[in-house]
Amino acid sequence: MKSTRTQVAVVGAGPAGLLLSHLLHRSGIDSVVVDIRGREEIATTIRAGILEAGSVRTLVDTGVSDRVITEGDRHDGVVFRFGGDNHRIDFQELVGESVWLYPQNDVFVDLAARREADQGDVRYGVADTAVDISGERPVVTFTEMDGRPARIEADLVVGADGSRSVCRKTFPEGARREWFREYPFAWFGFLAEAPPSHPELIYAHSDHGFALVSQRTPTVQRMYFQCAPGERPEEWDDDRVWAEMRRRVNGNGFEIREGPITGKMVLPFRSFVTAPMRHGRLLLAGDAAHTVPPTGAKGLNLALADVKVLHESITDFLAGAGDRALDSYTERALDRVWKAQHFSYWMTTMLHSVDGASDFDIERQRGELSLVTGSRHGAAYLAEAYTGWQPAR
Ligand code: PHB
Repeated sequence: MKSTRTQVAVVGAGPAGLLLSHLLHRSGIDSVVVDIRGREEIATTIRAGILEAGSVRTLVDTGVSDRVITEGDRHDGVVFRFGGDNHRIDFQELVGESVWLYPQNDVFVDLAARREADQGDVRYGVADTAVDISGERPVVTFTEMDGRPARIEADLVVGADGSRSVCRKTFPEGARREWFREYPFAWFGFLAEAPPSHPELIYAHSDHGFALVSQRTPTVQRMYFQCAPGERPEEWDDDRVWAEMRRRVNGNGFEIREGPITGKMVLPFRSFVTAPMRHGRLLLAGDAAHTVPPTGAKGLNLALADVKVLHESITDFLAGAGDRALDSYTERALDRVWKAQHFSYWMTTMLHSVDGASDFDIERQRGELSLVTGSRHGAAYLAEAYTGWQPAR
């Protein structure tokens, strides 16, 4: 069996795992990253597209990506559409920040290239990953792409292995708590070959349910609409999809630009948090520890924010600060996690239709949207949350 000794073993080579490995490398700390997915598979998985200002700063300032600036699109505001009209929230004017439209798969491509250029040890396409935390030092075992068994012994193991995390399941019974919420709907997401319908994102509340108009490139657009959780993408042909979008967003001079649909998927919708995010020498980051519904695009940003805090905790710990350095990780990360949980939940309930909602419920939602878009303080609350809160400490 091939055996490797490293300081930090990272399970999961998505943006969280690779950013952590990159930041550790910059601090002179050695890590090995493993993922059951192939590099190409991760690079082509379609995920969300909005980066907070702080996420962009991290990627640019630590030398991961210039492309986010040169090829990404800076958005200085966002549109809420309700009662048939567009209402814009101006981030720059309200909080002096912006967000960037730069898809998660591009963030991955940049991180993977950076790790490769720095000769980072990242093993894609492994199988049978397991974590053993019973010994003095944690061990990650897996099967290499060529079929050979391998093991990594580390000072610390980080589970950045997504919502179905193997690492999370390694916590002993009773060692952590879970908070969970389901929603009675999902999102139907699709890519279309069409010009942009609008320069900024449009979050639309309508009598027929929620819809989101986002973008990707001058010729490819990303859109979503609220659907039932059990909806099957194959039952939606292009005509049916566009008819649904039209009735949710068209009107008063606005018309969605249509074109051939190139990919369809139904996105799960739930809120989940587990804590503590650490047990002994095993720590969780990103989706492995928490999931938010996609309204507000907080998932990736939250994962990157976890990693920034975790990098500090690990650096302190390995410099001899002791368990205290690791203990503080959960508390520091969770502050932002629960803010983002609230924000995603709030955006969701403000914008989506629920079966059986009364006329009162619907008018109340419109009142809330009017408050958020029409009052300077309401709009600033949204702008600050959407562009990303400054770290609490
Ligand atoms: C996306 O462009 O994929 C996107 C944007 C905003 C969201 C969710 C997804 O809230």
